[in-house]
Amino acid sequence: MNNLFRSARRSLAIGILSALYTSPVIGGLGEGLELYNSYCSVCHGEAGEGQAMGKSLNDRSANSLSDAEVLDVIKHGRSGTGMAGWGDSFDDGEILDIANHVRSLQGRSGIMLTERKALVDTPEIIAGRALFKGKGKCVTCHSYDDDGGSIGPALDDVAQRLSESELKEALLDPSAKVAKNYRAKKVTKTDGTIVVGRFRNESDRALQIQSEDGRRWITFFKDRVSSITNEESSLMPDVFSTLEKTEREEILAFLRAL
Ligand code: HEC
Ligand code: HEC
Repeated sequence: MNNLFRSARRSLAIGILSALYTSPVIGGLGEGLELYNSYCSVCHGEAGEGQAMGKSLNDRSANSLSDAEVLDVIKHGRSGTGMAGWGDSFDDGEILDIANHVRSLQGRSGIMLTERKALVDTPEIIAGRALFKGKGKCVTCHSYDDDGGSIGPALDDVAQRLSESELKEALLDPSAKVAKNYRAKKVTKTDGTIVVGRFRNESDRALQIQSEDGRRWITFFKDRVSSITNEESSLMPDVFSTLEKTEREEILAFLRAL
């Protein structure tokens, strides 16, 4: 929203609401108090006690939200509920101010700035995250923030661990250099069927691999299979190179932000 429209809308809302509450609008934590009273208190109450169209921001569910979740619900809303997203109306600084005011209503300390990461998301990063979880199916094998599969390495801080060229190589040519601890084994059973999975454990008598979909750990007794060999290629499919150029850039932007 452009600034002129925003400030016009805001002063209109402040005008209406101060007439309603006849309480002066004063500055608090940044603009948080003012914005909260203008836009949020209608539904959540001036002290966060909750009104008919909203809910309490001081009950167990609201108090158990993490800093990131408070920022996220204010910025993006909750689809299918009366809680709309405010990300188009306010910039990230204003959202932070409002979130800080919500925290002060809860008697809590302010939002930790380290959790602001989610707020600086650009449209490119957001699109990259959607591809990571959707079309690219990356999340079936990779996790970040403890969420996702375990066939491939967790990708938290991946852009700090790998150089830009290593990162691109990992994506464009997964088998060029296979990450240690994520190698694959190929088991040929006596009936000729082949099972490939992530190598997990081995003893004199048995081998354990994790199925390619990550869901099961399978144990094979060595004397009951035809052969067990190292699989040279990565378990990572060649998905990245099949994506459109813009999609590849979006995923890269997302990975760099992890
Ligand atoms: C039109 C009414 C309305 C307005 C205006 C509104 N909200 Fe909400 N808000 C809701 C409703 C309804 C929910 C509960 C959504 C749900 O069912 O999960 C909610 C949920 C929330 C939650 C999560 C609470 C929880 O327990 O999970 C927070 C935080 C919140 N709102 C903050 C705000 C802030 C800050 C503003 C102002 C920028 C705002 N809301 C404006 C209706 C509103
Ligand atoms: C079927 C499982 C699977 C899927 C799907 C998959 N990967 Fe992988 N990925 C792996 C495995 C296994 C490795 C480690 C072996 C290697 O180095 O190739 C890996 C390695 C990586 C690495 C290097 C990580 C490091 O620490 O060295 C990156 C980055 C990566 N994948 C990103 C992605 C992205 C982005 C997608 C989606 C487009 C994706 N992967 C899809 C299994 C998968």
